[in-house]
Amino acid sequence: MSSYPAPMGVFDPEMHDLEGDVILSGRLEGKAAIVTGAAGGIGRAVAKLFSREGARVAILDIQEESGAATESEIKADGGVAMFIKTDVTRLQEIETAVSKTASAYGAIDILVNNAGTGKFFSLHEMDDEKDYDSVFDLNIKSYFRMCKLVIPHMLKNNGGAIVNTASVGGVTAMPGMSTYGASKAAVIEFTKSVAVEYATSNIRCNVILPGPTDTAMAAPQEFIDSMVPMKRMGRPEELAEAVLFFASEACAFCTGASLVIDGGLTCGPCF
Ligand SMILES: NC(=O)c1ccc[n+]([C@@H]2O[C@H](COP(=O)([O-])OP(=O)(O)OC[C@H]3O[C@@H](n4cnc5c(N)ncnc54)[C@H](O)[C@@H]3O)[C@@H](O)[C@H]2O)c1
Repeated sequence: MSSYPAPMGVFDPEMHDLEGDVILSGRLEGKAAIVTGAAGGIGRAVAKLFSREGARVAILDIQEESGAATESEIKADGGVAMFIKTDVTRLQEIETAVSKTASAYGAIDILVNNAGTGKFFSLHEMDDEKDYDSVFDLNIKSYFRMCKLVIPHMLKNNGGAIVNTASVGGVTAMPGMSTYGASKAAVIEFTKSVAVEYATSNIRCNVILPGPTDTAMAAPQEFIDSMVPMKRMGRPEELAEAVLFFASEACAFCTGASLVIDGGLTCGPCF
């Protein structure tokens, strides 16, 4: 008899119907998740989708009002969520948030490292190393710290799923992206390293590479028209579906993978 839910990272026959198709509901039933940067944009859409799929969700963000609003909306829909005001660049704050989540939910099965900044500046405009450090601190060092703190909980639990948010900026170049692009390329490499380091411990680690997405970081329409074959931005909910796939058992044999979700942007120039 298989126990339900199965440990993270293990193919669960109970998540499939008689034809072997994945049952598209309750895909995270019984799981506990942390989503960083979940007060708005992609992270918020992820937190809401995870909750609809049965997960209990800890929402970590610096924005108090919208973080609390995300928590209330999830609860109003019958879900379980808690907002923990956290600056993910501060070690003490993430230590507190991780231990609060573990004691409230009894486990941490899923970590979504999503908080990030989209600051662009050309090399000569940069304020010495301060700008560089602030982008790297948030876009990659916070992911490293969150993983270091959460992975021991996943090991205790015999598995887990980590989903990181990079960007198509991590595999392409544009003027002004020397710092942002490099930080996102680091997220892709970091993902692969974590994936192989914990592959035999049932901890999967994958990364999404969003293209222009309709959030507070949205790109101007001229950019979309000239660069994106689909001529539109992605919706946060469309990105959330990809994060759900990586977090769920539908993706049990997939680790270290990058998924580009960009309306065709990285296919080449859009004539
Ligand atoms: N929107 C896009 O076009 C796009 C494209 C590629 C990649 N991304 C990436 O997607 C991720 C989510 O961005 P988004 O588009 O939803 O933008 P967003 O600005 O709507 O969301 C980012 C969230 O991160 C939070 N945050 C910022 N600094 C934080 C900190 N120190 N501690 C905790 N939370 C913090 C913000 O308060 C916000 O809620 C980011 O990593 C971003 O780089 C976005």
